[in-house]
Amino acid sequence: MLQIPKALLQIPHQQDIPFARLTTLGLGGLCRWLFEPVNEQQAQDFVRICHQAELPFRVLGAGSNILALSDIEEPVLRLNLGSEVVRKGNEIEATASHGQILLAEKAAQMGLSGLEWSSGIPGRMGGALRMNAGAHGGEWRNVLSRYRFLMPDGELIEKAPEEGEFSYRWSHLKEGKVLLRAWANLSPTDENEIRARMDAYRQKRLGSQPKGRSAGCIFKNPPGRHAGQLVDECGLKGLRVGEAMVSLEHGNFLLNLGQATVADYQALIDRVRQTVEKEKGVRLEFEVEVWPTRF
Ligand code: EPU
Repeated sequence: MLQIPKALLQIPHQQDIPFARLTTLGLGGLCRWLFEPVNEQQAQDFVRICHQAELPFRVLGAGSNILALSDIEEPVLRLNLGSEVVRKGNEIEATASHGQILLAEKAAQMGLSGLEWSSGIPGRMGGALRMNAGAHGGEWRNVLSRYRFLMPDGELIEKAPEEGEFSYRWSHLKEGKVLLRAWANLSPTDENEIRARMDAYRQKRLGSQPKGRSAGCIFKNPPGRHAGQLVDECGLKGLRVGEAMVSLEHGNFLLNLGQATVADYQALIDRVRQTVEKEKGVRLEFEVEVWPTRF
């Protein structure tokens, strides 16, 4: 049984919360310890205490890109830093807790273009930046001008992004680093033009992506290919194990039809990966974060 340092209990927390409630996919084990700092100081205290106790921790946002396969004993950090957006010129600043869809909406209201691609991404900004989320040809690294984060020992760093820190669905903000706040450099544009782009993306999404419970695209696109298309070409759409099913709309979405178990979901993933590897010679890698890593 994991020992939680007493000092951590000063930070707002909850115990034994099912990941079914903490993730959009709606399945998984229990989150034994969920810590929810309400300001940057508490977040820094959390990271420092864990570092001193040599206690590894995980970071959770909206849980829209997480597949939590079993109980997680180590502390899970979910920042609760509010959702204020500050504008200075063409730059906006928001906390890692801010919802990505709402952020794109606020930027549109301000007549600032650059985040339209993210108007359908259900996560929070922290998760979006940590994965360098992207869609419709846009991605976070294209607009990021500054960011503030904690190092694994709790040191606070604020800097401009540099070469090598963000790439396709990857950033260095992992392994004990915690994003706190970010600044995006946007372009003043007529609000109607921004909204027209957001509407076009919405239409495209509605036409090609399912509405059911999922973690978004489950696999990364292999270089020069589309994971969804590969799954589709293997005839796997509609494949079902218990209550887990490959979406009929998009091959890279694996749905929880309601009561899917972790075992159903794992078996479906295995069958999809094995088939695509056998028929296409491509080993699909996860785009979602798998807790704990098993594959
Ligand atoms: N396609 C098929 N069958 C399918 C799915 C797709 O043939 O079942 C074909 C489409 O017809 C199209 C191509 O594959 O020619 C690409 O499809 P799509 O435009 O849907 O893009 P994607 O590469 O599958 C990426 C992101 C999505 C993002 C969309 C829209 C990844 C792994 N996925 O999907 O992101 O919403 O582009 O820009 O990069 C996510 O990150 O969770 C996610 C869903």
